[in-house]
Amino acid sequence: MKCPLGATRTSFVFGSGNPNADIMVIGEAPGADEDAQGLPFVGRAGQLLTKILESIELQRDDVYICNILKCRPPNNRKPLVGETDSCEPYLWKQIELIKPKFILALGLTAAHTLLKSGETMTALRGTVHNYQGIPTLVTYHPAALLRNPEWKKLVWEDVKFLRSLYQEAKGS
Ligand code: URA
Repeated sequence: MKCPLGATRTSFVFGSGNPNADIMVIGEAPGADEDAQGLPFVGRAGQLLTKILESIELQRDDVYICNILKCRPPNNRKPLVGETDSCEPYLWKQIELIKPKFILALGLTAAHTLLKSGETMTALRGTVHNYQGIPTLVTYHPAALLRNPEWKKLVWEDVKFLRSLYQEAKGS
């Protein structure tokens, strides 16, 4: 069954970054800027994501960035369950190809879709989840940080935790 979002979007926004990345960053869905450019996280939330990655010495090209939905929902509304269900096979394929060693889920849409959990952000943060054998961390979505800058400190803690797990895995 074809997803109706295909009819309203401009671009199919698959993903960007390093196809051999150890870390895969997964957001929610393309917004207006992403839909126009065909690339994930290129608008304001994306600029903040770049800074968050840089805070743990990662460049965007060190990681692979994508979204749960590959097409923009009209007016940036939250993805519907039917949409995440029909788009998920693309994500499965991406994960199979990239074989990340870690996943960072940004926001509850990504976390709930990946982990099949309905828990709150407070409950999900700070622990290592298991997505098909891949250690997965959850943190706030950068768009939420633009609205709630007081959460930046929490995201900084989460990405520092990711960095420590990553360095431990690399043996450095
Ligand atoms: N928000 C997302 O979840 N993904 C993007 O690509 C841009 C904004």
